[in-house]
Parts: sequence; structure tokens; C-alpha cells
Amino acid sequence: MDWGMKNRLSQVMPGGRCFFMAMDHGYFQGPTTGLEKPGETIKPLLPYVDALFCTRGALRSAIDPLNSKPIILRVSGCTSMVGKDLADEEVTTSVEEIIRLNASAVGVSVFIGSDYEKQTLKNLSQLVNACETYGIPVMAVTAVGKELEKREARYLALCCRIAAELGARAVKTYWCEKDFDKVVQGCPVPVVIAGGPKCETELEVLEFVHDGIQKGAVGINLGRNVWQNPNPVAMAKALRAIVHESASVKKAYEIFNEGKQKLESHAGRQVLQ
Ligand code: R5P
Repeated sequence: MDWGMKNRLSQVMPGGRCFFMAMDHGYFQGPTTGLEKPGETIKPLLPYVDALFCTRGALRSAIDPLNSKPIILRVSGCTSMVGKDLADEEVTTSVEEIIRLNASAVGVSVFIGSDYEKQTLKNLSQLVNACETYGIPVMAVTAVGKELEKREARYLALCCRIAAELGARAVKTYWCEKDFDKVVQGCPVPVVIAGGPKCETELEVLEFVHDGIQKGAVGINLGRNVWQNPNPVAMAKALRAIVHESASVKKAYEIFNEGKQKLESHAGRQVLQ
């Protein structure tokens, strides 16, 4: 592997593990709850994450270039929640723009099994062609659009393997309860766990992340389950412990509760003053 490629990968995956903060939701669903002002939402979480996953628009308008984290630029889009089909994506960003913004990596969605399978796989392949020239890693995102029921091991394994075969340096995919280890084992490049809709409880999030890491995933790309939580910093600390310190679910939940209590006692003091 070339020096530049290796160096960029190590920026976003220090020690081979990663906690990416997903904040790209606006690119297809507008001002998502909790992310109306992305800069304000993300700022307190920055110390706990390894990289930000965002579009060029959010980056320019909301992220301070002086005190940032490595950037994984979301470079596919051109569809919306209210449009005909979320899968009908194009690549939105040129390689010059990717370099100008000093992105450490890029992310592109593939919609395998959809009407736009070939188009989105071509998006991935062509992006790999362009980015490999400059040593920029491409992360494929195995997307399902609104068809959340597709998230089972056989389908996810197929998607991850295809994305890796086409040249993705990492693949982001959904965790699944059954046979997630088979998804990871069938993929020759690092697998990163995607978030998905907000879970009912914190414990549920910690459990699926812990299970995914145990089964071989190198890390997470989570958004709503962190910044839609009433205690996002406590949640980020707990997740970081699972990803980077191999913490158990019990330990991570303790970290979450400690963080939450600190915040509550701080708020209590403010009310008393
Ligand atoms: C998918 O690629 C999306 O754009 C998000 O990056 C991804 O869904 C992770 O965010 P969340 O944890 O909120 O689902």
C-alpha cells in the first residue's frame, strides 16, 4: 500500500479501529432532528471521535478547519426522501474538490439489488479509479434506502464483498443479529458498522456495537444514536470505550451513566445558583 493511502487510513482508523461521527443526513433528508445546526451538535463530541462523515456543504458551513478531525467526505447524492427513489444516486464531488477540502477519505453509497445497482456500483468503481491515483481511500456504504428489512446477513455479505471487489478500501454496512461474523469474514477489507434509526435504549446501542466489534468489525459510523440521545457526550464516551478500549457492555453503560450523572449534577448546580 502506498504511503499516502496508508497514512490517510491511519488518520481515520488510528490503531486499526474507528469511531466515525455520521452527520451527512441532510444530503437526502434535510434538517434532521438534532442536526439542524450541525456545527453546534458536533462540537462537544469532537474529542471522542476519530473522523467526521459529512458533505462538503456541511463541512464548509459548520466545521472549523482549524480544530477539526479528519474528514470522510460524503460524495454521493442527488436524491431525497421525497423523491422517486433514494437509490438513484450520482457522484456529487470532483476529485479536485476532495483534495481541496483535504479529505482523508470519501464515502459513496451502493444500492445493490435496486433498480440503480449498476449505476451506483459504477459510481463506486469510477470513484476508486479517481481516488486511488491520489492515495485517497474510498469507503463504500451498503445502502438499503427505505427497505430496512433487507438488513440480513446473506444480503449484507453479498454487498460488502462486491464493494470490496470493486476496490473499496473499507465498507460500511449494517449490523445484523444473526451471522454478522459471516458478513465480516466474507469481506477482505475493514467493515465499519452503520447506525440505523434511533434505538429505544442506550443499552441496545451499546449491545449491537459491542457484538459487531466482537465479530470483527473495526468500528462504527453512528449518528442519530449519539446526537439524538439526550446525553450525546456520555453516549460518545461509552461508544469510544467499546471501540478503542474493548470495553464490555457493562463497563460502557457505567461510563454512559457516569457521564449522564455529571451532566445532571452540573445542571442541578446551575439551577440552584
Ligand atoms: C448513511 O450512509 C447515512 O448517511 C449515515 O451516515 C448513516 O446512516 C449513519 O447515521 P445513523 O447512525 O444516524 O444511521
